Amino acid sequence: MINPLAQELNSSLHGTVPGEMLSDLGLRLFFPKGIIAQGAEAKKLGKLANATIGMAVSNESPLILPTIQKEFLNLTSTEAVAYAQTVGNPEFRALWKEQLIAKNPSLSDKYFSLPAVVPGLTSGISYLCDLFLQEGDVLLAANPSWDNYALIVETRRNASLQQFTLFTESGFNLDAFEKAVKEQAKTGKVRIILNFPQNPSGYTPTESEQVAICKILCDVADKGANVMVWCDDAYFGLNYEDNIAKESLFSFLCDAHEKIFAVKIDGPTKEDFAWGFRIGFLTFGGKDLTEHHYEALNKKLMGTIRSSASCSSSPAQSIMLRAMKNPEIEAEKIKFRKILESRYKKVRAFVDAKKDHAILTALPFNSGYFMCFKCNGITSEDLRLKLLNDYEIGTIAIDDVHLRVAFSSIDDDIITQVYSAIYKAAEELA
Ligand SMILES: Cc1ncc(COP(=O)(O)O)c(C=O)c1O
Repeated sequence: MINPLAQELNSSLHGTVPGEMLSDLGLRLFFPKGIIAQGAEAKKLGKLANATIGMAVSNESPLILPTIQKEFLNLTSTEAVAYAQTVGNPEFRALWKEQLIAKNPSLSDKYFSLPAVVPGLTSGISYLCDLFLQEGDVLLAANPSWDNYALIVETRRNASLQQFTLFTESGFNLDAFEKAVKEQAKTGKVRIILNFPQNPSGYTPTESEQVAICKILCDVADKGANVMVWCDDAYFGLNYEDNIAKESLFSFLCDAHEKIFAVKIDGPTKEDFAWGFRIGFLTFGGKDLTEHHYEALNKKLMGTIRSSASCSSSPAQSIMLRAMKNPEIEAEKIKFRKILESRYKKVRAFVDAKKDHAILTALPFNSGYFMCFKCNGITSEDLRLKLLNDYEIGTIAIDDVHLRVAFSSIDDDIITQVYSAIYKAAEELA
């Protein structure tokens, strides 16, 4: 299926040489009017607040860890400009693995691959799609989800992204999840991407929901389906409530069952506040998988990297490696996380006080960079435009009903003003 936006571009190019020579992928490709395009509008008009950005921003500048900043001038020529190895600097990979175990203690006695460096989490997901998804295949994802999943899965790979309803009124919708997984299991193969803390909702399952998710996956594996779970942990570690899962799902799925194959997608992008570094990691885990299997998977991955970006950024890997070896980085990260947590607490209190609002219902949220409103009786796009034009506040309309607000990019002192305006604008529209 060709998206209408792709159709428009194809029409613009009609009759030209490039237009007549577009490949099937070239014909399908377009630039969605999603987060990036809405973000560009907010940059122009969101004078009071630009709550579109998936970064941690303070006083209009992105936060940067001092341990990272100070390494910029310290690199040797090799660290700065030499080609990196296809799956990354071995020392960086080993240190990331060591820290994965420190952050996820359940991994300490488990056997999983050495993380491979990819040029950002987006490309990691795209490479997984190259390796494991083709026309006719289905990837399950939550609804709502990060909009780029659809562009990668449907447009790039010509496969199908099927979304299950993520929430009940109060938390993770285990019934919808189980139904979607069981339906796919009938085909013999379940592929699923799960992202926690989640974009756009800002939700992480509770400990008991996480156990239940693993059990549902093990049950279909028990009945014979091959189950592949991609854990998109982009926002790992940004948890603001005590009862939510502290470890990645990957910790439990990587040795849960012979028929379950888990992949962890993570990196310094959000965890270490290094968005533009364009480095991330893919880590593989499966109960029966041996070094021999991980080596083969690694070589497959190397093929997709070599044939696209070729390798990841050397200076970014070198700076991150130096920063990670500096014992001060942990305290700095805690300080930044506290900034986000304090914003979360303000938003939480404001939204809780409007629990029964007729037009705006906050989806469950407890972690990460974002929270999301479900709009009742108005469209999220109308609300986004009103906020932008009348209140100079940039937000994201994820689809017709969900409005995403990135509290990670709103300074503490204007949170009340921004959220008051959001409710007021919704009331004016209704
Ligand atoms: C859920 C999720 N996964 C992956 C990414 C991509 O991260 P990166 O910037 O490392 O490509 C994002 C970025 O917004 C995200 O929100």
